[in-house]
Amino acid sequence: MRTAVQRTYAAAATRPRPNLCCAQDYQSEWIAHIPAEAFTFNYGCGSPMMKSAIREGEQVLDLGSGVGIDCFVAAKIVGPSGRVTGVDMTDEMLERAEGYRTRVAATLGFDNLEFRKGFIESIPLPDGSVDVVLSNCVINLSPNKPEVFAEMRRVLRGGGRAVISDIVSDREILPEHQADEDLWGSCYTGVLPVRGFIAALREAGFIGFTRIAESPWGEKAGYRFASLTLAAFISLSRVISACIRANRRSIWGLTPWSRTMPVIAFIACNRWISAPIPPPSWRRPPTPGTSS
Ligand SMILES: C[S@@+](CC[C@H](N)C(=O)[O-])C[C@H]1O[C@@H](n2cnc3c(N)ncnc32)[C@H](O)[C@@H]1O
Repeated sequence: MRTAVQRTYAAAATRPRPNLCCAQDYQSEWIAHIPAEAFTFNYGCGSPMMKSAIREGEQVLDLGSGVGIDCFVAAKIVGPSGRVTGVDMTDEMLERAEGYRTRVAATLGFDNLEFRKGFIESIPLPDGSVDVVLSNCVINLSPNKPEVFAEMRRVLRGGGRAVISDIVSDREILPEHQADEDLWGSCYTGVLPVRGFIAALREAGFIGFTRIAESPWGEKAGYRFASLTLAAFISLSRVISACIRANRRSIWGLTPWSRTMPVIAFIACNRWISAPIPPPSWRRPPTPGTSS
């Protein structure tokens, strides 16, 4: 399957293939330094970068970096004191990304970004070396997802986080459908259901999750698909601060500052951490003015 995926993305790096995956728009203020042509090779399914709250000076890793769009946005935000590494297995993608990289560095006036050839199942970086792992529409393409999640966990340093956009399905994909190379390579039948996705992340040592965005993507071979963006944490303090941010209104609104507040916050966070991530809504909202 890996060779088939590589073939698909080698071709897609040579000639744009619209509708391969479900690329989403980026806010224009963050992309002015990126050559416009790069966006014709955008094969993501969300924008984990825009949702990752990346800060200046952080070390960022982007898995399956493609032509590098998320890396270029990250490079601008982390600035000269930060570092961004994109990892991809396809030579044609890496070549194109490298061409854009030199232009981006010239525009930014600093060069804090590199692309490395490698597999996301065996990330070419040392243990505990990054603050944030980004991944935009690549985990579904891997034939060995537990290895990918374990590698994400390995390279994160204490307090680190993963921000992932990927396609999820409404149920387990049957083995006979997984065998279709074209459907797998175009981000359909390699996907996991939400529950399986979270379970695999937990298995790898991630302990708290927050759903950031979702959008329905459509139906194929009898399955329903959606794009989901989530953050996954490896340290309790990060989970608690994400929980407090997410539940700020209910924790702060209900409880005036008092000695009981930490207890209420703890109970709320405990429930939040162990709550399952609900499945996305699979249907596109109706277009205004149309009746169903
Ligand atoms: C759907 S594209 C997404 C590219 C990019 N993240 C974006 O948003 O445009 C998937 C990319 O991951 C790469 N890829 C797929 N499987 C991989 C693997 N197992 N290891 C490394 N790269 C992989 C492909 O070469 C391709 O560039």
